Amino acid sequence: MSLQEFLLLASRTAILFLESSIFGTLALSALAGRVVGRRMVRTMLACLLILFPLWLAAQSAQMSDTHSFAALPSAVMLVLQASWVGHLALVRIAAWTLVWLILRVGGRGGWSRHWAMLPAGLALALHAGAGHAAATGDTLLFLAVLAHVLAAASWIGGLSALWLALDGPNPSLLVARYAWFGLICVIVVVATAVAQALELTGGIVGLVGTAYGHVILVKIALLACLLVLACRHRFSLAPRLPRSLPVLRRSVLLESVIGLAVLVAASLLSTLPPGAHDQPTWPFAYRLSFELLDDLELRAEMLNALRALGGAALLLLLAVLSRRVRWFAVATALAITWFAIPHFDLLLAPTEPTYYWQSTTGYTPQSIASGKAAYIEHCAACHGPNGAGDGALGVGLPVPPADLTAPHLWNHPDGELYWWITHGVIGPDGKLAMAGFGTTLDDDTVWALIDFLHANNPNKPDDLTLGAPHHHH
Ligand code: HEC
Repeated sequence: MSLQEFLLLASRTAILFLESSIFGTLALSALAGRVVGRRMVRTMLACLLILFPLWLAAQSAQMSDTHSFAALPSAVMLVLQASWVGHLALVRIAAWTLVWLILRVGGRGGWSRHWAMLPAGLALALHAGAGHAAATGDTLLFLAVLAHVLAAASWIGGLSALWLALDGPNPSLLVARYAWFGLICVIVVVATAVAQALELTGGIVGLVGTAYGHVILVKIALLACLLVLACRHRFSLAPRLPRSLPVLRRSVLLESVIGLAVLVAASLLSTLPPGAHDQPTWPFAYRLSFELLDDLELRAEMLNALRALGGAALLLLLAVLSRRVRWFAVATALAITWFAIPHFDLLLAPTEPTYYWQSTTGYTPQSIASGKAAYIEHCAACHGPNGAGDGALGVGLPVPPADLTAPHLWNHPDGELYWWITHGVIGPDGKLAMAGFGTTLDDDTVWALIDFLHANNPNKPDDLTLGAPHHHH
C-alpha cells in the first residue's frame, strides 16, 4: 500500500467514524431522553472540517493519478466539478454545516437533536451512494446497503456517547435501552449484509478466494466479537450496576475500538473490486465435488460410509442414555468414525487455484479467430491441425497429446483449462506431460485459445455431468 493509498484509507475511515459518532450520539440522546455529548458533537464536527481537505486531496490525487503537489489543485477542482464523488462531497459539507446550524440555533433544546439527525443521517447515507451497490444500479440492493450503513453507524457510533453517558444518572436504564436499540440495529445489519453478500461477494468461492471476501470474513469475525461484548454488557454487567460500572465502561470502550476496526474494514471494501467481479483464487488443494458419485460402485461406498456414521451417532446416543455401556459405546463409535471418514475423500477432487476463474472474452467470433491463430502457432504441432491429438511432434512423447475434440473437454471449466495451458498438464504417470505456456502467452491469448478449443469441439454432451470424469493426479 502506497502512502497515498494509506492516507486515503485513513482519512476515509476517520470521516466515516466521525459521521457515525455524530449520528450515534444524536440517536443516543433521543434514547436517553436527555442531551448527551454536546461538546463531543461540536468537536467532532470541527475534526471533520479539518480532515475533509486531506481526504479530498488524497481522493483527487488517486482519481487523476497525480503524484505532484503542483498538479493537485487542478485535480481537486476537476473532481469537485465533474465527478460523482466530488458532488457527493459537496453535499456532505452542506449536511455537516446544517447539523452545526441546527444544534447552534436549538441550543440546549431536545428538539434540535432530533432534527439534526436528518442531515447527519444524510451524510452517512451518501456513503451508500458512493459504494459498489449504487454502481450496480440495483435499487433493492442500494436500499439494503443504505439500511446497513445507517444501522451499523448508529450502533457503532453510539458507543462513544454511551461510554460518556454511563457517567451520568441512571446508567442501568441506559444500558437496557441501548441493548434493545443495538438488537434492532444488529438484526438490520445482518439481514442487509446477507442481501449484499449474495449479490456482491460471489458465494463461498468469492469469500475464500478474493481479497474482498477476505475482508468480509474479517468483518464477520469482528461483528461476532461485538455481539459477544454486547451480550456481556446486557446480561452480565448491567444487572450488577453500579458496582460493575468501571468494568462496563472499559468494556464499552473496547467495543467502540472494535467498531472502529469494522469501519476500517468497511472503507477498505469500498476500494476493492467486489468478489463477484474478481477472479476468485481457490486457496485449497481440494474442492468438494460430487462427480465421482455418478459411478454406482463409488456411490455405494459413499452410502455405506454414511450408514456407518449414522450407526456411530446411534451409539453415541446410547452412551448418553445408558451408563452401563457408556465407554464401550463411545469407543466403538470412535472406531467406526475412524474407518468411515477416509471414504469421504471421494467427495474431494484435487483442484487448481484458478479452477473458478471465468473467461473474460465473452466468447466472441473475434476471440475464437485469434484463439485459432494462436492454436496453429503454439499447439497444432502436438495436438494436430484439427485438435485430434495427432500432431507430428506428439508421436514420440511418453504420454500422447490429448484429443481436444473429445467430449470430456467439456467436463473441465474454463478456469481449469486456463491452469493447464498456463502451468502445464500432469500426465497419468505423475510427470509433467505438457509444459505450461504461462510465460509465452498473455492472459487474453489464453482465454482466446480456450474459446477456440470450445468452438472446435463438436462433441458437447447434452448433459454435461454425464461425461466420465477425467482426472489428472
Ligand atoms: C509438446 C507437445 C504439446 C504442445 C505443444 C501442446 N500440448 Fe497440450 N498436451 C500435450 C500432452 C502430452 C498432454 C497430456 C495428455 C494427458 O495427460 O493425457 C496435453 C494436454 C493438454 C490439455 C488437457 C486436455 C485434457 O482434457 O486432458 C489441454 C487443454 C491442452 N493440452 C491444450 C494445449 C494448448 C491450448 C496448447 C497450445 C498453447 C497445447 N496444449 C500445446 C502436449 C502438447
